[in-house]
Amino acid sequence: MKSYPTAPSLTAYRAPPLRGRFSLPGDKSISHRALMFSAMTIGESEISGLLESADVLATAAAMRAYGANVERGGDGVWRVNGLGPGGFLEPEGPIDFGNAGTGVRLTMGIAAAHPFASTFIGDASLSGRPMGRVLDPLRQMGADVIARSGDRLPLSLRGADPMAPIAYRVPVASAQVKSAVLLAGLNIEGVTTVIEPVATRDHTERMLAGFGADLQTGTNADGETVIELTGMPDLRPQTIVVPGDPSSAAFLLVAGLIVEGSDLTIETVLLNPARTGLLTTLQEMGADLTIANERLSGGETIGDIRVRRSALRGVAVPPQRAPSMIDEYPVLAIAAAFAEGRTIMDGLAELRVKESDRLDAIVRGLKANGVACEEGAESLAVTGGAAPGGGTVATCLDHRIAMSFLVMGLATANPVTIDDGAAIATSFPHFVDLMTGLGARIDGGADLAEGAA
Ligand code: S3P
Repeated sequence: MKSYPTAPSLTAYRAPPLRGRFSLPGDKSISHRALMFSAMTIGESEISGLLESADVLATAAAMRAYGANVERGGDGVWRVNGLGPGGFLEPEGPIDFGNAGTGVRLTMGIAAAHPFASTFIGDASLSGRPMGRVLDPLRQMGADVIARSGDRLPLSLRGADPMAPIAYRVPVASAQVKSAVLLAGLNIEGVTTVIEPVATRDHTERMLAGFGADLQTGTNADGETVIELTGMPDLRPQTIVVPGDPSSAAFLLVAGLIVEGSDLTIETVLLNPARTGLLTTLQEMGADLTIANERLSGGETIGDIRVRRSALRGVAVPPQRAPSMIDEYPVLAIAAAFAEGRTIMDGLAELRVKESDRLDAIVRGLKANGVACEEGAESLAVTGGAAPGGGTVATCLDHRIAMSFLVMGLATANPVTIDDGAAIATSFPHFVDLMTGLGARIDGGADLAEGAA
């Protein structure tokens, strides 16, 4: 396992019933895109409910580095005065995206269609992640790239003038790759086509259409999603309200399901069908989840989710569901540890290249806490029922591993410690405050003498 620098550890203790009604910070995917698309639009866009986490703030800083005016008002509303799709200015130095894969990959798409050099850097986790999946199509469009071996950060790229539109079949199920190609296509004359054999989250398509881009989505004879974007649109400034992040809600939902006596309601959560695979899976496991007040907001369905402590049973999660819950497997594995019987998850190859090798990190964490599980190349099987806890988990700079195992510790007999809580700030800075406000105890780590598993 790779070693990462670690910051202060945290320990979660068995919690009293969690009860309450609250909303959560804005969706991370939509927050990144709201800043970027506003920066590509001449005029002032307003964004409320922006997720103010380290990842999204890195994107805000990047947009400023390219010349956009990005300000947070005293009212909490972000105002962005952008430059038009081809109007970015050459940044003065390297752009540091920290831990943010979505931030760097989508920005590379925009930058690649500008005829100047951009240099991208990130933390140890981001510097280990594959960028070739985004660079390959950008090279086909004409961009020049110099990257560290394996197409990893740090890297520099420079767009050609002019760039060529391409038709690109995305070889992995990745909304980030799809989005990078479409964003490059915005500043290229002609039609850029993306073919997705497996549909992924469609926030880029929905939001670009809302900004006035000329974009059509259809299905070809093979059942693949085909997106055609005509370059050089006049984008119009927007007023955006970012809904609550379902991937952050996932931690609260699982906590509510496994902590005795819990009853939580999470308001205004994004319910885009490309993001709700976890809800379906938890319902199949017997979760008492109800959705109320479903409504449309800014072209997306949102609603309030109520969760009550439930006896869960193991299920087989179909691999084709993976794109709609790709960020939720770590916390699903925790739910599975408290379910009766085995939960089998397949089609998980992408988990190996997230903020950490999540399959490996989940398995190590479960085993350190006495949960039986088996790791395959692309699969995970968890045998639930006995989750004694008492272990220490290496989070590998991965926010979702960190929060998942803290949730576990709320329901195990023995406390669960994570070696590093710092990564939580990348997506959910107030997670620990929210949980402690609900009555949970999560505090400075217990003795780490035995080291993280
Ligand atoms: C995201 C896409 C997914 C997801 C990530 C956010 C996005 O990544 O895991 O957290 O906003 O487009 P991939 O494109 O690598 O699947």
